[in-house]
This record gives sequence, C-alpha cells and structure tokens, in this order.
Amino acid sequence: MKLVLQFFQKLPEELAHSIALKSLKILYSLNILSFFAPKIKQNKFQFLGMEFKNRLGTAAGLDKNGDYIDALGALGFGFLEVGTSTPLPQSGNAKPRLFRVFSENAIINRMGFNNKGIDHLVRNLKKAKYNGIIGVNIGANKESTDQTRIDDYLTCFKKVYKYADYIVVNISSPNTENLRDLHNSDQLTQLLNSISDLSKTLLNTKPIFLKISPDENESSIRRIVKEVEDSIFSGLIATNTTVDKTLLIDKTYHEFEGGLSGMPLHNKSNEKLELIRAINKDMPLIGVGGVIDNDSYNKKLKCGADLVQIYTGFIIKGPKILSEILN
Ligand SMILES: Cc1cc2nc3c(=O)[nH]c(=O)nc-3n(C[C@H](O)[C@H](O)[C@H](O)COP(=O)(O)O)c2cc1C
Repeated sequence: MKLVLQFFQKLPEELAHSIALKSLKILYSLNILSFFAPKIKQNKFQFLGMEFKNRLGTAAGLDKNGDYIDALGALGFGFLEVGTSTPLPQSGNAKPRLFRVFSENAIINRMGFNNKGIDHLVRNLKKAKYNGIIGVNIGANKESTDQTRIDDYLTCFKKVYKYADYIVVNISSPNTENLRDLHNSDQLTQLLNSISDLSKTLLNTKPIFLKISPDENESSIRRIVKEVEDSIFSGLIATNTTVDKTLLIDKTYHEFEGGLSGMPLHNKSNEKLELIRAINKDMPLIGVGGVIDNDSYNKKLKCGADLVQIYTGFIIKGPKILSEILN
C-alpha cells in the first residue's frame, strides 16, 4: 500500500486523483475491492431520522459527479456527500489548480466547481447500488449572478431532492467569484427564504444543510446561526477551505490563489464549530476541515460535530485512514 501511495504522490495532482478513483471503481466492478478495503468496526449512528454506518463520511468535492458512489461506499465510509453540482456542466478554472503540500498534510485548490452538471449527477444517483446515506451538495454556475445564482440553487434542489438523503447548499467555495457574498445578511436571507419556499412547495422532508466558510468572523457566524434557526434548514456544515494560506509554514504558498484544506485548517474550522455549538447546543452539525488521524477526528466530535467528513486526509493517506480513524 505504501508503494502505491508513493506512486500516486509522484503523479501530477489531478491525474493522481482521477487514476486513484478510477482504480477503486475498477476494483469494485471486478468485485475485489473488499480484499483491499480496510476492515471497519460496525458503529451505526442515528441522526435526523437517518441511519449512518458510522460517523465518518466523504466531504464534497471528492466525487463531484457521483461517478464513484459504489466504490467509495464499499471502502467503509459511514456516508457520502457528492457534488458540488451546478445546473450546467462547467470545466472549472484553468490548470494547474490543485496543489498538494505533503510536508504539512495540506492541499490548496482553486478548482472552481468543475463538474458534469446536475443531470449527470442525478443519473448516477438513480443507478447507485450503495445502501448508505448520500448527501448532495449543490452550487451555482460561474456565470450566474444575483437572482440567477439563487435560481441555480433552486434548479439543482428540484432535480436532486428525491434522490438525496440530505441536501447541502454550498455558499462557501472561495473559487467562484463572489459566491461567499451569500454569507452576507440580505443575500443569505433571500437564499434561505427561496429554498425554504421551494422545499415547502415540493413537500420535501429531507434535511437541508448550509455549508459555510471558516473565514467568517464571530458576529457573522452568530447571525448565520440565527438565520438558520429561523429557517427550515436543519443545520450547518462547518467548514469549507480557508483563503488564509499563511496558516502554512511553507511561505512558498502564502500568495497562492485558492482554498487551503487539511491539517493547517483544523484549528480554524474547529473554532467555528465550537462557536456554533456554544450558540446552539442542539443544532445538527457536520464538522469538516483538517481531519487526518484519530485524534483530529475525535477533536471534531469534541468541538460539537455530530458527523465528520474528510477530503484532504483521504487524498494524502489513502483508504487506510478509515481504519486508522474508525477502529
Ligand atoms: C480539491 C478539492 C475540491 C473541493 N471541492 C469542493 C466542492 O466542490 N464543494 C464543497 O462544498 N467543498 C469542496 N471542497 C472542500 C471540502 O469539502 C472540505 O470542506 C475542505 O477540504 C476541508 O476538509 P479537509 O481538510 O478534510 O479537506 C473541496 C476541497 C478540495 C481539497
């Protein structure tokens, strides 16, 4: 396994990512993935009327199009989150746009919601065999602004709500221009109201989460929590990547454009998680950011997460991180 990881570390980032996921899919379709998959202790968890196989899931971005649902599910994750998906397919930002900083267990990315569009994702959700919980993370196309941006979320919501176990409204990618403005009061109220109205019209009963940025200050977090409490949203996912690259020791990356994830993000996202939990002791919370081992996973739970997600840790350590964390 160590040799395989070293091989992937030598490949260009996006190629490594794509080959790794495609290999998992091939092993799965040959029915031999279980020989390589870590053996995970059973640890079921009931949450918001759903049964999770365990509390560790994939974070959005790992499987943007739902192309790898069954293979990732077979690795032993307690749940999967697919997306971010947008109404129209889009190619994302120019390459290179993904940078691994192995020495600090970190990644910087400026992918820009590259994805095959919501219809492709829905087709994959319909044919998935995975019997665990699947969340669907939705976003807006690059060209959309103001009302068309809100319409993008509504379009995606309508198309996925029947096939998702929970839905995530992602306003926190730093790589789509002005998307994070949706954290601001007026825009957020408008977005939450529009989605709430649609959800009621559709008689949707699936939980809805808002995924937020770690770069918001305390008063903004307090306001967002209040807005979510007053809406039909169930809770929050904290957090997305940070734009503060000075959290890295290696100064080479300080001026890089993009969002930072992995170990350097851990404290910052935990602070937001703890703050939200202190404001509302009951709000359903999914914690994400910087989980790379059992300690950092337990810390998320301690800070108030009901469920935990990983992305960077999985890329850096491979599937063995599941047994390291869960067993
Ligand atoms: C390459 C890459 C792509 C990502 N794409 C998305 C995305 O499409 N939607 C989203 O909500 N978050 C996305 N994220 C953020 C992750 O879901 C997660 O919130 C963040 O990476 C922090 O978790 P980590 O430290 O475990 O990676 C992406 C992260 C990375 C590294």
